[in-house]
Amino acid sequence: MMNRPYYITTPIYYINDVPHIGHAYTTIAADIMARYKRICGYDVFFLTGTDEHGQKVEKAAELQGIHPQELADRMVNRFTDLWKALNITNNDHIRTTEERHKKVVRYMFEKAFEKGDIFLGEYEDWYCVPCETYVTELQLKDGKCPDCGRVPERLKEESYFFRLSNYTDRLLRLLETHKDFVLPEGRYNEVLSFIKGGLRDLSVSRTSFKWGIPVPMKAEHVIYVWFDALTNYISGIGFLDDPELFGKYWPCDAHLMGKDILRFHAVYWPSFLMSCGIEPPKKVVAHGWWTIEGQKMSKSLGNVIDPLDIIKEYGVDEFRFFLFREVPFGLDGDFSKSAVVHRINGDLANDFGNLASRTVTMIGKFLKGRIEAPEKKGAMDEFVEEQTQRLIGEYQAEMDLFAYHKALAAAFEIISILNKYIDTEAPWKLAKEGDVRIKTVLYNIWNSLRITAVMLYPFMPEKSNLIWKALGIGRRIENTFFDDEKAFYCPSDIAIIDKIAPIFPRIET
Ligand code: MSP
Repeated sequence: MMNRPYYITTPIYYINDVPHIGHAYTTIAADIMARYKRICGYDVFFLTGTDEHGQKVEKAAELQGIHPQELADRMVNRFTDLWKALNITNNDHIRTTEERHKKVVRYMFEKAFEKGDIFLGEYEDWYCVPCETYVTELQLKDGKCPDCGRVPERLKEESYFFRLSNYTDRLLRLLETHKDFVLPEGRYNEVLSFIKGGLRDLSVSRTSFKWGIPVPMKAEHVIYVWFDALTNYISGIGFLDDPELFGKYWPCDAHLMGKDILRFHAVYWPSFLMSCGIEPPKKVVAHGWWTIEGQKMSKSLGNVIDPLDIIKEYGVDEFRFFLFREVPFGLDGDFSKSAVVHRINGDLANDFGNLASRTVTMIGKFLKGRIEAPEKKGAMDEFVEEQTQRLIGEYQAEMDLFAYHKALAAAFEIISILNKYIDTEAPWKLAKEGDVRIKTVLYNIWNSLRITAVMLYPFMPEKSNLIWKALGIGRRIENTFFDDEKAFYCPSDIAIIDKIAPIFPRIET
């Protein structure tokens, strides 16, 4: 398994907007898997990036009186700074305005054109003149533009189309033979019925604005933003430039995204790739959406959450943990500060942090800071070890399915077992009675806690490393392998274990 490649991506983010909690969510989700796969021995490539073309960016730049490229250059740091603050371990960040990307998009467009999958036709739909945007029949609200409420007019423009309908059978076969192509499971049927409902040819060029990659055979057209954006997944790993890198990581193991853009990834993207003779990705994973205190997040409501504010107030690991402990991955969730505080005080301060402090204090006090091999094992001690092993297995199975909430539940079950074990075995009593079993009990807790920290590491990398340090372990978790850390062992190179400051201080409300 060593050095097996694993390629994971996030969507590339629209540059006209400031990053918010929704963007942070997708990126942290990918970071969790990237970190997990690395400690499982995979050679991971984790790509994120920014979507910098299109009418929205052109308009936002116009409003500020600057060139769209200048807007993109200014805004990109907002994203890369956020990734740093969130401890994101991406290997690269692709921008669609980079030449390495643009040439791949041109190549793909030409390839599909030569194949006969792209043809010139006419696009007709409702057009909102003030918003300068097409609105489909379905999007209209009482016959009016859903954004500005004005009456749109019927408009036709010349456009290139992609023969999506050509790919219906191949897409159905792909889904048929890869039952796990779409995760979570529930979303698979959604994609299937969309394809079965009939695929319409897709307009893949525009003449109504300029900010994009010109169509190679007709420069007054720019390539549709989605055709452009999706291509980042191959341009970002050296397609055309670096065949070795591309050959190593493609096909992608997992494209992560919100449910709103699943169709683009599970239907359009594989079709574009197949048209160009490139293998489709192995998996697409869609997560749910966050509302804020029960409401949709929107600029006009003024309730957009800046992840940097939350990190400042509660800590980065606490924020990362909250997002994935609170809501089953795949479902929608509601963000509120009271829910964050509740999770921090309950799971982290009371259950996990307190367990770590008690353990460290007891090892310091009763064993002079040293863990020793057990001399006597009782049924309860065996039970704790068995349960830890069982829950590690459960955790790994759930992680592989992106069921982060279930993986976290497995880790927290160990924590709860350990807290009960301390209460029932009462090491302070064993110490008073001079019973050697105290060594066994503390050895067991030390081991289970050490493993739990590894399990929580992808979610809370810094805090988990702090736990290791408190347990006297000098290495960092990212430099270890999950398989090596699974078994119970009696450490030889462990520093003297003593008291620690609370790792998760309670938040007073
Ligand atoms: N640029 C396109 C993606 C192109 S990928 C080839 C795009 N960008 S986006 O910035 O609008 O959204 C990026 C991601 O943020 C999506 O996965 C989307 O689901 C996620 N979120 C945006 N708002 C969200 C919430 N309120 N909650 C959770 N995630 C949401 O789409």
